[in-house]
Amino acid sequence: MEIVLLGATGHVGTYLVPRLVELGHSVTAVSRGHREPYLPHGAWKQVRRISLDREALEAKQSFAKRILSLKPEIVIDLICFNPESARTLVEALKGVVRHYLVCGTIWVHGHSEVVPTTEAQARRPFGEYGIQKEAMERYLLEQAQLHDFPVTVLHPGHIVGCGWAPLNPAGNFNPRFFETLACGEELVLPNLGLETVHHVHADDVAAGFVAALSNWSVSVGESFHLVSPAAVTLRGFAERVSAWFGRKPQLRFMPWDQWKQTVSEQDAAFTWDHIAHSPNCSIEKAKRLLGYSPRYSSLQAVYESVRWLIDHGMLSINTKGDK
Ligand SMILES: NC(=O)c1ccc[n+]([C@@H]2O[C@H](COP(=O)([O-])OP(=O)(O)OC[C@H]3O[C@@H](n4cnc5c(N)ncnc54)[C@H](OP(=O)(O)O)[C@@H]3O)[C@@H](O)[C@H]2O)c1
Repeated sequence: MEIVLLGATGHVGTYLVPRLVELGHSVTAVSRGHREPYLPHGAWKQVRRISLDREALEAKQSFAKRILSLKPEIVIDLICFNPESARTLVEALKGVVRHYLVCGTIWVHGHSEVVPTTEAQARRPFGEYGIQKEAMERYLLEQAQLHDFPVTVLHPGHIVGCGWAPLNPAGNFNPRFFETLACGEELVLPNLGLETVHHVHADDVAAGFVAALSNWSVSVGESFHLVSPAAVTLRGFAERVSAWFGRKPQLRFMPWDQWKQTVSEQDAAFTWDHIAHSPNCSIEKAKRLLGYSPRYSSLQAVYESVRWLIDHGMLSINTKGDK
């Protein structure tokens, strides 16, 4: 199949492109060309690379035409963030592609209610990103239901992989929190540390996209969570990471309003976003219909990524302690 992958060199594309090539697909990788995939892979030699800027072309109303000119049979869209972007492409791709697979986010749910959250639950997104992704999902699924447009929406959790810092036990991306645990120093967590985060390894996200592609008849018109088998609490996450570093966890807890004063504004904003959602999503639907079977637990995914950061000198666990 001729597959055009939009946003091909990021977290998901790094793992998805080699999988698609290995399955014998002909892949056109679209990005602005600002960066290379996180991991090298021989499969990229067989990939047609196209540099274009979606936002710039959308502003000139020529993005969809450009994508159409690549003659896709399947489009995998990892960089659609609102219903307007989706609409432009859907209108151009109607009657042309066999399948349009779009990346959503578990943020479409807003805060968790009954957990694990299923895809069928009512959406109550908050924050611009989640609100726009939910509107995008609603528009796309309506196109499938009312107009037989062959679309599938896949919702990853916090994506983890080799090459970037994973979401840490304080609910933000500052690697210093891993360093604190590695050195056996005290880590202060917000509230009781019982709010949750839900990671997923980027390769499991890639496998989920492939599973949706391979199970067209049941995936079209549907959305699926792509997360690890189980969410973790911040406290449990911190305790396990401490143990992984061979340390006894030294944890202390502080009410949110005090805790947020102890970290940078950016760290506090990311932590708030994660604990206000406290995601805990079900993968039963993806398991049942797609055979989705994630290889990594949340913690295994994080350990692999932290190991990569250590091996590449990106986590300075020697500077603060004796490890
Ligand atoms: N990261 C997460 O934890 C997470 C969680 C849930 C859902 N998601 C969803 O996953 C998808 C990927 O997000 P991400 O943050 O993981 O992406 P990412 O790793 O930052 O990758 C983005 C990709 O898109 C390309 N790109 C960015 N802007 C572009 C533009 N204007 N035109 C063409 N190409 C462009 C980038 O390459 P260039 O810079 O070279 O253009 C790169 O290949 C998004 O839909 C996001 O909502 C992410």
